[in-house]
Amino acid sequence: MSSVFDKSFENLVLQLETPGIAVLILNRPRALNALNSATLRELRVALMGLAEDSTVRVVVFTGEGEKAFIAGADIAEMKDLSPGDGVAFAQSGHEVAKLLETMPKPVIAAVNGFALGGGTEMALACDFIIASEKAVFGQPEVGLGIIPGFGGCFRLARAVGLPRAKELIYSGRRVKADEAMAIGLVNHVLPAEGFLKAVIEHARTIAGQSASAVSKAKSLMVEFTEAMGLNTKIDAEAHAFGRLMGSFDQREGMGAFTEKRKPNFQGLTNV
Ligand code: CAA
Repeated sequence: MSSVFDKSFENLVLQLETPGIAVLILNRPRALNALNSATLRELRVALMGLAEDSTVRVVVFTGEGEKAFIAGADIAEMKDLSPGDGVAFAQSGHEVAKLLETMPKPVIAAVNGFALGGGTEMALACDFIIASEKAVFGQPEVGLGIIPGFGGCFRLARAVGLPRAKELIYSGRRVKADEAMAIGLVNHVLPAEGFLKAVIEHARTIAGQSASAVSKAKSLMVEFTEAMGLNTKIDAEAHAFGRLMGSFDQREGMGAFTEKRKPNFQGLTNV
């Protein structure tokens, strides 16, 4: 049977560290590791392979380079989506996030730089986050005329509480590593130098335990934190995300990002 480590990916790198620690690296540095459809498809294949591979006990998920973990969903690709395509795009992100959240082994998000929009959302779908001192989190979607579409509306609230999630999502404000630690978004903040090695050391502690017991604990905690209830909520989120595609503010917000200027939004409209 072919191993997931033998597969070749365009935008991902997979490495195996002993004992049983898979390092999954988002490798699209020209777009600061932004998530386009092709990358989401590759992530789905890689995560399904890692879930099934009996040699893998823990997954460490990180971004290539020092600048970004994931700078969000790909704005260039989303710019001209129709509402229907918007729903499908959000759902493909949800599928990846659900694989991270429910696969039968722990996934540690090693956030090495910008984790914005879909980047914060993918990190939140992992079991927990370890941040480099250079990490920057945020949900800047409302500044693009959209909302978080990969589960952020719910997983952020679950991590930091509803009032804090509301403030962060309504303002799009960025959160640096020390604040992320203070509000409970991340478990540890580590020096940028030697960051990935240090996260792998954390993973080693988990990999040394009973994999079956760890897996059972994970599945209970995921069910306990209402994954089933979450399914209904993220479905509603995907449809709301889709409804904003094609709106004046979405075209204006993403157009402004691409043209490197400030957006000029309409007032409150019925979308
Ligand atoms: N999508 C597509 N391309 C992106 C990107 C994204 N999310 N983020 C960065 N890039 C690209 C830039 O367009 C740029 O490409 P060019 O060199 O071809 O112009 C390249 O990556 C480098 O980016 P910058 O020049 O902007 O780098 P910077 O250091 O000046 O700024 C940054 C870094 C603050 C992360 C900035 O790139 C930024 O604000 N990126 C967008 C972040 C964002 O809004 N993310 C949310 C996306 S929406 C979303 O994720 C929806 C969802 O929930 C599903």
